[in-house]
Amino acid sequence: MAYRVIPVEPFDYVVFGGTGDLARRKLLPALYQRLKDSQIPDGSRIIGVSRRDMSDDAYRVMTRSALEQFLPESERDPAVIDHFLGMLRYVGVDASGNDGWDRLVRVLDGGADKVRAFYMAVGPDLFDDICIRIGRHGLVTPKTRVVIEKPVGKDLRSAGAVNEAVGAVFDESQIFRIDHYLGKETVQNLMVLRFGNVMYEALWNSGLIDHVQITVAESLGVGSRGGYYDTSGALRDMVQNHMLQLLCLVAMEPPDTYDANAIRDEKLKILKALKPITGDAAETSVVRGQYRTGVANGSVAPGYCEEIGVETSDTETFVAIKAQIANWRWANIPFYLRTGKRLPARASEIVIAFKPVPHSIFPRDAGVVQPNRLVLRLQPDEGVKQWIMIKDPGPGGMRLRHVPLDMSFAEAFQARNPDAYERLLLDVIRGNQTLFMRRDEVEAAWSWIDPIREAWERSRTAPKPYPAGTWGPSAAIALIERDGRTWHEELAA
Ligand code: BG6
Repeated sequence: MAYRVIPVEPFDYVVFGGTGDLARRKLLPALYQRLKDSQIPDGSRIIGVSRRDMSDDAYRVMTRSALEQFLPESERDPAVIDHFLGMLRYVGVDASGNDGWDRLVRVLDGGADKVRAFYMAVGPDLFDDICIRIGRHGLVTPKTRVVIEKPVGKDLRSAGAVNEAVGAVFDESQIFRIDHYLGKETVQNLMVLRFGNVMYEALWNSGLIDHVQITVAESLGVGSRGGYYDTSGALRDMVQNHMLQLLCLVAMEPPDTYDANAIRDEKLKILKALKPITGDAAETSVVRGQYRTGVANGSVAPGYCEEIGVETSDTETFVAIKAQIANWRWANIPFYLRTGKRLPARASEIVIAFKPVPHSIFPRDAGVVQPNRLVLRLQPDEGVKQWIMIKDPGPGGMRLRHVPLDMSFAEAFQARNPDAYERLLLDVIRGNQTLFMRRDEVEAAWSWIDPIREAWERSRTAPKPYPAGTWGPSAAIALIERDGRTWHEELAA
């Protein structure tokens, strides 16, 4: 099925970290796809910036090989690739010094009427320096925006400092804090499912929902990102942003409109209503783990420390949390969150587990009436499954069966599933902040995360080991089973 594409205004996208992993793996392929879909008008440019010296042509060669590496062959159109490479420029700039800035000014000269976006695909320690220099060189036009990659800080204090530094040069309406999970199709669909249908919202409360599970499982290890990851860990890398954003979209009240601030106001209320996990609760409501060597994807995988080349580390590669939202709608309804690396599958989903029927009218030998579940599959195989009870068809009396009403988006729509960055990169050009985090959201999320981290630091206990290729430490299973519940079994299949 063809999808509707509305072209954006011409732009200059300046990508700091333009030769880095994120640019090559995600940003350049995403912009290529938007060009291929005729969404990028003539006159638009992508200006790669990094410390190293490189000609425009060398940058084009690097980009061509990135597109070959990270796009499926079926998506590579030689004519579009040539057109895309023609949009590229490169400027070598010392982000924290003076070299190269005048050249960047010259390259951007004359483009003040275009939308101008600065993408910070660099470590957060450089945001401050880069923003100061962007301001000092007069590069902020009325149509300028800045995109900040996560992590925004490593705790509330440092996030405040990053936000101050960026806010000294850009207005909040120009700042796009990216959380790429918000650009995923099923995540956007969650809002449509909740607020575009009458039936779910009527059930969406502690009266009929028993609990919620959010799992973001990755089968790979940390790979070459050990330097960053070892200072971060799963709590900061995944929970503070992606997982809490998903939780907010499940739990928030209906906003008045599909408007950036209306939605972000509602998400903020949820973040503020999260019950703090402090002291002993950080041990009883949270499980952290670290993978050890094990069999993953059919071969022996190294343990975390071995993989990143350190003797020991207390960094967690797995977290499971029982979170609670202290408000009228969600009182006493647990939200079980779980994320980790080197798990048995790359699979992410949100499970809304409804309460059981209050009384079964069926004979005992008909089977058990199982509670309904709504499963939103984020990846892979994006889709929605509503598990319901039916009568097993055929003669032989009444037999009950739990089956999914299954909508796989790939089968239903046969459209290419765009990468989250495709949507988000062009939302920046449109000036649409709906799927980006506002300053107060980021800081509220840190306010909930920090006490967990601090309690871990005080307790000085190490993360629990789990073999690569398993679903985390057994304590993560106990975390939910203690409450008489189980992790959604389909994922484990
Ligand atoms: C990133 C994290 O934000 O998200 C990574 O830093 C993680 O550690 C990645 O692997 C997962 O994203 P996705 O889209 O592959 O689920």
